[in-house]
Amino acid sequence: MNILIVDDSATIRVALERFIRKLGHQCATASDGQAGWEQFQSGAFDAVVSDWLMPGVDGLELCRRVRAAEDRPYTYFILVTALEDKQHVIEGMEAGVDDYLVKPVDPDDLKARLIAAERVSRLHRQLAHERGRLHAIVGSTPIGLLLTEGGIPVYWNSALLLLVGISDPDPHRLEQEIYASVHDAESVAEEVRELLEAGGTQAIDLHTKDGRCLEMVMFPCGVVDGQPSRGYLLRDVSREREVDRMKSEFVALASHELRTPLTTIKGYVDLLLDPGTGSLSPIQQEFAGTIQLGADRLMTLINDLLDLSRIEAGGLELARERTEVRQLVDRAAAMLRMQYESKHQQLDIEIPNHLPAVDADPDRINQVLINLLSNAYKYTPAEGRITVTARSAGEKVELSVKDTGIGMSLDDQTKLFTKFFRARNPAARKVGGTGLGLTISKSLVEMHGGSLTFESTLGEGSTFTVSLPVWRG
Ligand SMILES: Nc1ncnc2c1ncn2[C@@H]1O[C@H](COP(=O)(O)OP(=O)(O)OP(=O)(O)O)[C@@H](O)[C@H]1O
Ligand SMILES: [Mg+2]
Repeated sequence: MNILIVDDSATIRVALERFIRKLGHQCATASDGQAGWEQFQSGAFDAVVSDWLMPGVDGLELCRRVRAAEDRPYTYFILVTALEDKQHVIEGMEAGVDDYLVKPVDPDDLKARLIAAERVSRLHRQLAHERGRLHAIVGSTPIGLLLTEGGIPVYWNSALLLLVGISDPDPHRLEQEIYASVHDAESVAEEVRELLEAGGTQAIDLHTKDGRCLEMVMFPCGVVDGQPSRGYLLRDVSREREVDRMKSEFVALASHELRTPLTTIKGYVDLLLDPGTGSLSPIQQEFAGTIQLGADRLMTLINDLLDLSRIEAGGLELARERTEVRQLVDRAAAMLRMQYESKHQQLDIEIPNHLPAVDADPDRINQVLINLLSNAYKYTPAEGRITVTARSAGEKVELSVKDTGIGMSLDDQTKLFTKFFRARNPAARKVGGTGLGLTISKSLVEMHGGSLTFESTLGEGSTFTVSLPVWRG
């Protein structure tokens, strides 16, 4: 260690210096408090061993100055005193003294104190190192970081200020200043409040007035001094969002362009297979049948992709109206009846008479029900049973499609609503499908302010439940 000895008695100074050097440490000496303070400022000392009573700047004052020098690494302060009275010791400790020695100094006592000093200095060095590393990371990351305690900003990095264009931050107004750079600040602030009330980790996209998109992730950071602490991460995602939009636009355009020639192919192959057009040889009929099947599958896929890209681009408008649940179910069931019959599956519809009407776009909900009913058909073996039930649940009506089919493993259930997902179960892979039906259905139901949930047991069956808001006129 590098130790500063401050004492106005030359005899004690020399004795201390000799002993400290013998212990293998480096030393510097000063003959009074003022000289000690000047030495301290010009060197890097791990510890100070100082006399208390000195003319001018005394040991306590020197200690106060050392503690106030915040930009310096921690210095262990040992006060040497002839005053053994407890009150003095307390006064010393309050001024920031770490330990004290009573005169005449016993070399073993000093040795023991320096062992403690060395340990504390090492810990402080480690702490400063870790802190420096953390500061370097947080200071140089392009991700904006903000930390609040009890709703008040207590820490932020320069990236945050740069992202929202603030040069002179005021902690009490920082949140408003962030929203000030964003379109529609008031509703964004309101939305953020709602997300925070919901708890957990939440994210929101902020669209800035200069055309950038910032993703803000908010997460709880535990409790500090009894106050809930929260972290905010801010990232410029303009490019990602733009690429995403371009992808949706491309898919929409490609699907749209593909649909026109496909409609022609499908129209002509339907005509070819129509007995009124003229007869085909059995082999020609088989070929045309294969083309028809392929064209039908392609048409379903293209329509699904088109829907998905419209939903993602926010371009799908709902035509909501007062809709009777029974009519919705009957319409969808009628479209699937032939298929159920072909597999000898039983379809039961149990809908109570006085069910409230729902606030829904009948065509879109029909699409959802057809997907659920056709999944029940596809993923339920012959002779199985499909039951459609409905019930009123407060402000919602819940519509369930239950089957006695193959069900899904827990692993498959976690990925169910992701695009193009198909269960790994070979029984599910045997039947055709693109894995878009449920993703689209979930989005459509959520656009209505409802939800799509499910329960499933592998080998026993599944129940999908659509909840839709009641019609309020
Ligand atoms: N009722 C069900 N029982 C068992 N597995 C199901 C059921 N419904 C869906 N699945 C599983 O979830 C997957 C995704 O269903 P989804 O409806 O999204 O796609 P798909 O039926 O494969 O194709 P499509 O896009 O044509 O509907 C299915 O492939 C199947 O593995
Ligand atoms: Mg499906």
